Amino acid sequence: MSLNGWPAGGGQDGDVRPGDLWSGPGAAGAIAATGVELGRGEKGVIYGLPGGKVAKVFLDDAPDAHLEQEFRGAAAARSHGVPTWTVERLSVEGPERFIVGSFEPGVPLASLLRARPHAAAGLMRRLAAVHADIHRVPAQPHRRWRLPLGPDPTAVLRPFLPRSTIERLAEIIRGSEVGFGHGDLAPANVHCRDGELVVLDWGRSGRGPMTADVAQTCMTVLSARFGATTPAWLHLRYRRALVDAYVAAYTAASGRSAFEIRIWTAIAMVRNGARMPPGRRKAAVESEARRCARGLAA
Ligand SMILES: Nc1ncnc2c1ncn2[C@@H]1O[C@H](COP(=O)(O)OP(=O)(O)OP(=O)(O)O)[C@@H](O)[C@H]1O
Ligand SMILES: [Mg+2]
Repeated sequence: MSLNGWPAGGGQDGDVRPGDLWSGPGAAGAIAATGVELGRGEKGVIYGLPGGKVAKVFLDDAPDAHLEQEFRGAAAARSHGVPTWTVERLSVEGPERFIVGSFEPGVPLASLLRARPHAAAGLMRRLAAVHADIHRVPAQPHRRWRLPLGPDPTAVLRPFLPRSTIERLAEIIRGSEVGFGHGDLAPANVHCRDGELVVLDWGRSGRGPMTADVAQTCMTVLSARFGATTPAWLHLRYRRALVDAYVAAYTAASGRSAFEIRIWTAIAMVRNGARMPPGRRKAAVESEARRCARGLAA
């Protein structure tokens, strides 16, 4: 694996050298033996280690490229002042692949949005400011991110809108400014501690249209459920209000277009609905996707 062309990693430039990579035999076994499982995502398991560190041990189906993006994305963001974990070691050799970095205490933002609705709009505005900062990180020679954009992203809107409208929308998003993005800035991938946010999980980071990166966050918030104690329609209104607060704060901080974000959000919603398994949840997400798409006609 080559780290050529990438920041050296770690909290500050120069913190980690490629020769430092922790690839010794048995290292992953030692993590599992001494570490305490802190969290588990689709791609990996997070172990707490002694000395304020964590190891993210990746599951077999996560490609090496995903680890490299996580390491490089986190390092680039951190060296440009984005609050995130400090990545220190990357191992992609052998069957067990992992990254060692700093333990970041805090509560997942997703939990706070559920538990503290009165604080949620403020937290979303703070997340928007961090997102605008992420988009100020110079674009690295990353591979394009894994947002499923394709050559004609607006094609998925065809069932909902007349052709002439779609052509107009396609023209607008073709002009989207390309830069560095997180790729999956979902509330579950952000920790909050004493009101400060820390961004995690850079495995999908890379280069792409920045308003599409914002739309990915909007899609996640619109599609997620926040607890089961209030009626679904209230949840939906709540999620829309969070997205509105988020987009308003992001556009104020970045100067980018709210309409461009709405186009990308409709695209992301339709795609997300299409890949969900059949059921009530799929129907709810598809209904919201139609609403997003039709809202673009005006
Ligand atoms: N550096 C860290 N310090 C403390 N907790 C962390 C750290 N990194 C991750 N976690 C916790 O572990 C959880 C899973 O981590 P992460 O999102 O990085 O895994 P993932 O497998 O890539 O997730 P996904 O399912 O989104 O692909 C996070 O939601 C977070 O709560
Ligand atoms: Mg995650």
